[in-house]
Amino acid sequence: MHLPNAFDAAELPTTPEAFLPLPNSEGTLLARASSIAALATLGLDTVSYGSENTGALFVNLVIMPGDGYFPEKSRSSMHGHTDAVSFPVRGRFDNEDARIAPSPDFVCLSGLRNPANAETTVMPLSEILPQLTHDQIAELKKPQFIIRAQGTFRDGTESILGEEHQVDGGELLFDVEGKLWVRFSHSSAGADEEEGAAADAVEAFAAACKARADGIAIAPGDILLVNNRIGLHGRTTVEGEAGGESRWLLRTYGLDTASLDPQQRYEDSAHKLFP
Ligand SMILES: [Fe+2]
Repeated sequence: MHLPNAFDAAELPTTPEAFLPLPNSEGTLLARASSIAALATLGLDTVSYGSENTGALFVNLVIMPGDGYFPEKSRSSMHGHTDAVSFPVRGRFDNEDARIAPSPDFVCLSGLRNPANAETTVMPLSEILPQLTHDQIAELKKPQFIIRAQGTFRDGTESILGEEHQVDGGELLFDVEGKLWVRFSHSSAGADEEEGAAADAVEAFAAACKARADGIAIAPGDILLVNNRIGLHGRTTVEGEAGGESRWLLRTYGLDTASLDPQQRYEDSAHKLFP
């Protein structure tokens, strides 16, 4: 759901160079208030996870200077994925730790700057599934995949849980009330064996994802809400140098929290989920 000109991206400082801190200014306040209002309209609470960026409710998505995992990721294109991929979908529990909260229902991106019109890509599951055979879909529903925590959750889950969160024997597609839900990441989810029906199904899914990607340039003042259950998202390459007036989005998550267990939250926060 693309909401053009949802807020006035006015009065912005120079673009930050890290996920945090998030500068206080009129533009970032309007982006945050509009994001929370948009998610509330969908019946969702705005949430974060203690294991990602210390549980900050909003983070900067910006070009980061230097080399290394996060700076390189901040500029490169990103294949289709769902966010918080190793966490269960809403209504299910992690096999080993019932305290782990569900991944978000929606990813909410708000645009502050996008000088080169870098595109966010979205891939609806409804366009991916027709590219797959019945047998491939059946494979993806089996609890047989290894799912590693998304990059931004690795250090945080390790320090909170004692080891990086990983699912051994998880599904990628779920039957939920007559519909299919997805969790997937090209880089963090895959089959145990490199060959065989499971690996082939993952490869077919990834190829269908690539073929069905739609690009959306999030302009200053726009909000993009991506359904994290029936859609995947990614990004094209981001050009430019860190800081200055370079690309700057804010990101937060929305979740229907009605069925959350108290142990999936932190007592000291209204929005931060475990881990
Ligand atoms: Fe993402």
